[in-house]
This record gives sequence, structure tokens and C-alpha cells, in this order.
Amino acid sequence: MARHLTTTADFSTAEIEAVFERARLYTGDQTSQDLRGRLVINIFFENSTRTRSSFEVAARRLGAEVVSLDVATSSEAKGETLHDTAANLDAMGASAIVVRHKNAGVPKILSQSVSASVVNGGDGAHAHPTQALLDLFTLQEALGDVQGKKIAIVGDIKSSRVAGSNIELLRRFGMEVILVAPPHFLPKRRDIATSWDLKATAQEVDAIMALRTQTERHKSPLYASLADYATDFKVTQEILGDRDVVVLHPGPVHRNVDLDDAVLSDARCLVLKQVRNGVAVRMALLHKLILG
Ligand code: NCD
Repeated sequence: MARHLTTTADFSTAEIEAVFERARLYTGDQTSQDLRGRLVINIFFENSTRTRSSFEVAARRLGAEVVSLDVATSSEAKGETLHDTAANLDAMGASAIVVRHKNAGVPKILSQSVSASVVNGGDGAHAHPTQALLDLFTLQEALGDVQGKKIAIVGDIKSSRVAGSNIELLRRFGMEVILVAPPHFLPKRRDIATSWDLKATAQEVDAIMALRTQTERHKSPLYASLADYATDFKVTQEILGDRDVVVLHPGPVHRNVDLDDAVLSDARCLVLKQVRNGVAVRMALLHKLILG
């Protein structure tokens, strides 16, 4: 039975630690032929630059063949059901299928009808497990053991699959998570600390994860303007002060809305490290799913 990664909860803590151990072997751009002759299919029903290219680079660095389906021209537009699309991909002998879809639950459904390993590349506002894994990996690299460390997740948390996956994963590894957002961007859950005061919260955390305002997921504009939102929730150098704190963002960054220019070029900002580590973590993940 193929293993899948549809949410972070699909992997035990020990399994994640093993994936990270392998990922550390890949952080220097190493290549191998471990997946030679294997086929990895990326099927992205929603646009993506970094996640899709990261999976492509990861699969190629392990010697696999990669096919990325152009969804604008794919058969979904022609009315083919998801099930038939999956059956066709499977019949091509794929070892892994990476799927991104605007609807929550699509990777899970797909995983039930194919023999390849299915990886969730982001489904609706639900989950983005590989992003959370690379974020945790990057936090461990920067902070050492993350147990007992505090992180503020800032921004449009309710619409963010990145936040959803990180909340599960970071808390499982012992981090204290504080959600910082205006009330209408906060999820309705009582088991987690929240704040509307970024400046005050920033003084007590070891890490800040800023998120993009997901304007495309809002049914009506939720903030008067992005500029108003930025006044209260943009991470600036002034907010960081001279504190020993790291800043993450899954990208794409809304410059001067989520993070200001000065933070993006500050040494405490790990955005490009996240991108780099993303390839290594996805290599280790494909290795685990395909070779066991
Ligand atoms: C995120 C996504 O698509 O979920 N980006 C990413 O995968 N790196 C976040 C976003 O779109 O804002």
C-alpha cells in the first residue's frame, strides 16, 4: 500500500524526524539517481510557481522523470471527472502524484483511487503539509530544538492552508503558537492564543511567520484596503528592533503589506532559506514515499 501525505498528521513525529535527517543530506544541492526510472507527476489545478518548481527540482535531483500538467489545458476543463484524471495518471505508471486544488479534500479523494503516492501540494484553505514541513525544518535549523519556543503566525490565518498545517505541526513539536490578526482573519477556535497587537507580541516570540493576505479567497473585501491592513499587521524592522527573532513567509510575499523591504533584506529573514530547504525536504519526502 502506497503511503500518502495529505495532511501533516499522516506522518508520525519519528517519521518526520527521519525525513529531516535525510533532508539534511540534501541541503548542499546534492543529486543522486535513487529515483531513476521513476515518474513523478505534478498536477496543479491552481497556479503556483514555487511549490510546483520546488517539486520538479526535487524529483529531478533524485534522477526521476517529471511531468507537470498544464491545467488550463487539462481535461478537467473538458469535463473529465477527478476520478478519471487520476486513473489516467496512475495508468502511466506514476510513483508519486503531487496535486494542488482549490477544493479542500481533493488529494485525499485522489489517494483513494490511485496506486501512486499522493502528495498534497495545497488544497483550498485546508492543508499544505510540505510547506509546514519545510517551515519546521527551517525553524529547527535557525533555533535548534524548537520545544518551548514561541512563534507568532501573522495575517490571514482563517483562509490559510499554510497556517492550518503549521498550527498542527509546530505545536506537535512543542512550539507555542500565537495567532496575530484582525478578528475577521482569525479562525473560530478556542484552543489557541490570539492577539491583535503585533508590536507587543513580537517582543515575546522567537519567530514570526507572516502570511499573504489571500484576497482571492475572500468573498467580499475584508479590510478597507491593503494599506490599512499593513498599518497594523506589516512586519517592519521597527517592530523587530534589535531582538533575536527570525522571520518566515511561505511566499509569494506582498512586499510592504506582509513584510517591509527592510525586513526582506534583514539577515533575520529566512524567506530564501525556506525556498532552498523546500527542495531538500521535498527530495527527502519523495524518497520516503517512493522507496519506503
Ligand atoms: C502558499 C500557498 O499557495 O498556499 N504559497 C506557497 O505554497 N508557498 C501561500 C499563498 O498562496 O499565499
